[in-house]
Amino acid sequence: MSFNHKIILVFGGAGFIGSNFIRSILAKYSKTKIVNFDKLTYSGNLDNLKDVSKDRRYCLVKGDVANSKQIAAVFKKYKPDFVINFAAETHVDRSIHVGALEFVRTNVEGVFNILEAVKQSKKVIKYVQVSTDEVYGSLALDSKKKFTETTVFAPNVPYAATKAGGDLLCRSYFSTWGVPVVVTHCSNNYGPYQYPEKLIPFLITRMLENKKLPMYGDGKNVRDWIYVLDHCRALELCLLNGESGEVYNIGADAEMNNLQIAKMTLSHFKRDDSWIEFVADRPGHDRRYAIDSSKIRKELGWLPDHNFKKAFFDTMEWYLTNQKWIDSIRKKTGVFNPHIDLWRAHKIKNKKSS
Ligand SMILES: NC(=O)c1ccc[n+]([C@@H]2O[C@H](COP(=O)([O-])OP(=O)(O)OC[C@H]3O[C@@H](n4cnc5c(N)ncnc54)[C@H](O)[C@@H]3O)[C@@H](O)[C@H]2O)c1
Repeated sequence: MSFNHKIILVFGGAGFIGSNFIRSILAKYSKTKIVNFDKLTYSGNLDNLKDVSKDRRYCLVKGDVANSKQIAAVFKKYKPDFVINFAAETHVDRSIHVGALEFVRTNVEGVFNILEAVKQSKKVIKYVQVSTDEVYGSLALDSKKKFTETTVFAPNVPYAATKAGGDLLCRSYFSTWGVPVVVTHCSNNYGPYQYPEKLIPFLITRMLENKKLPMYGDGKNVRDWIYVLDHCRALELCLLNGESGEVYNIGADAEMNNLQIAKMTLSHFKRDDSWIEFVADRPGHDRRYAIDSSKIRKELGWLPDHNFKKAFFDTMEWYLTNQKWIDSIRKKTGVFNPHIDLWRAHKIKNKKSS
């Protein structure tokens, strides 16, 4: 199976992973059409797709996944063969400090609307729901355990809980109506075009602003890092060859704690550890994530291509050579992660009063 002569409907394609996915598919399949349906929230950025925006195989539809009429209209007009959903509220800090309602609308109601449309469609071959390892909760730092596809969901923050809600709806639509849906759980991504509220571009922008690097808690929280194009390739395989009703974990075996990431960033800027500032921990902060991706490796033949250290420094270079991209987002959305400053203020206040 190939995507040539097929139409792929991408939800949330103007964000970080979605834009990388669209670019990689257009580069690989000359006869594919991609429809990108995106609400263009603060993290949706048309600059991420500037290079493909005039490609006749690509078009943008501005819309909201929580609006069932808009979803029905886009299915009716374009009659997609494949559907993939990246559209989500994705920032854990926002789900805590700004509120979880938008997360429920987009991450649960949005998935419901897409499932309903796929169920009505006679044409969709596969729908891939892009989800996260955060639905599985937290692992102990001193354990060797990893998340498998049968690990029980135990989300600790509203972001993860709403993603889990969407995933469970997918499961039920397959079991009840045979809707051809696959759910993926991927670990933390890094690479170009990531909105700078997320750890790696956040630390880089702090350095560029000559500001200290804030670290939640003791900085020892571990994430399992994957280069974004390795994730995109796994999603391509899930769309083409994934078994409907199945779940696939995606990870590249690169466990690093936040402090290690901060120190690698500092070394690139030739600065010492005094640039790290510990701040009060985030509530519900999961200690460790680690993905067992043996199923997708064995069943779909996927393997990550990128070495962590090299891809990490290449990513840093990308942000350094694309500071105009950062500046234009800053102009539109202001400070990147105001929530961490809330915690900084909290810590400073506590110090003064103690
Ligand atoms: N970034 C990671 O490390 C990571 C890891 C695992 C899984 N994921 C999952 O991958 C997906 C994409 O993540 P990302 O990092 O690219 O996110 P992102 O925040 O960069 O992009 C999200 C996109 O969705 C769009 N969107 C938001 N609400 C919408 C709505 N109501 N209707 C239509 N479009 C809407 C935004 O405009 C944006 O273009 C998410 O589902 C996320 O849960 C991300």
